[in-house]
Amino acid sequence: MIVSVEKAAGIIKKGELVAIPTETVYGLAADAFNVDAVKNTFKQKGRPADNPLIVHISSTDQLELLTVFVSEAAKTIAESFWPGPLTIVINKRVNVPDVITGGLASVAVRMPEHPETLALINKTGPLTAPSANMSGSPSATRAVHIENDFGVDFPILEGQAPSLGIESTVLDIREEPFTILRPGAVTAAMIESQTGFKVQSSEKKLNSDKHSPGMRYTHYKPAAKVSVIDEIPSELKSNITYIFHSAETSESGESVYNYKGDFNKLAHNLYDHFRQADYLGHSQIFIEKLPDDENSSILFALKDRVSRASNS
Ligand code: TXA
Ligand code: MG
Repeated sequence: MIVSVEKAAGIIKKGELVAIPTETVYGLAADAFNVDAVKNTFKQKGRPADNPLIVHISSTDQLELLTVFVSEAAKTIAESFWPGPLTIVINKRVNVPDVITGGLASVAVRMPEHPETLALINKTGPLTAPSANMSGSPSATRAVHIENDFGVDFPILEGQAPSLGIESTVLDIREEPFTILRPGAVTAAMIESQTGFKVQSSEKKLNSDKHSPGMRYTHYKPAAKVSVIDEIPSELKSNITYIFHSAETSESGESVYNYKGDFNKLAHNLYDHFRQADYLGHSQIFIEKLPDDENSSILFALKDRVSRASNS
């Protein structure tokens, strides 16, 4: 059920949940300073309590509600990339409820680029919002995905559906080099060139406690088996979903998707294809192997999600 900013603010203030559109994926929003509302987010999603939530803000001033010391790094990143698909991990203030962070001393924060969601946060203050899907299933990128997971009466804030289709980059900026805990549309190269800070990816630190706590859970997976294929099969089956990207593909069919090198569009639709395959009862999704090097900032994040989805 689509609701106005006004109506959504009322629901949040009552301590209830609203699905919010962002530029990445839909979020399941609650008042960050209402412990019961935040707890209810975990319950509704079936999310493990030790997988922390991102706090969404609408102005950099609100950082002061979440951290005692707003570092130069945080200010620089905020100026360069907010509003936008970049989440920063910073030291949390003691007043930030422990339920949000699963007991961690840090908190993840981002300012989404979405007019209605920013207007809502202006009225309510900071909102926690994990992706608006049942835990373990693909993130919601269309209103209908939320209806499928939470029912048709679930309130969804008005406004444009997510344009990117892949979750934000999560960046730990507590020490240099900064660490990318989850790749997204904002890449290490973009951060380095726009801020001058050094950035490394979490693979180097995977054996330390530095990776995103949520990354050990099975994320981004449909029920159908996802397999990466090197070559396009000569015969396509009607009970399999195919996702191709290379320019020469022209195969067609109800569940055959050709992107011809448009990786932004592929990212935008990926989770919908995953969900559609499940809806159709397909037990297999084949995805043409994505290239290593291409002039696409989304490609690295896309490969990350495909590889997670295809990990058995
Ligand atoms: O694009 C997005 O980030 C979307 C939209 C709604 O903003 N949100 C989203 O939230 O993807 P969620 O909860 O599905 O993923 C948040 C990720 C998880 O992998 C979680 O472990 C990590 O961020 N995270 C949250 N707080 C953290 C912290 N304090 N330290 C390290 N990782 C953290
Ligand atoms: Mg999620």
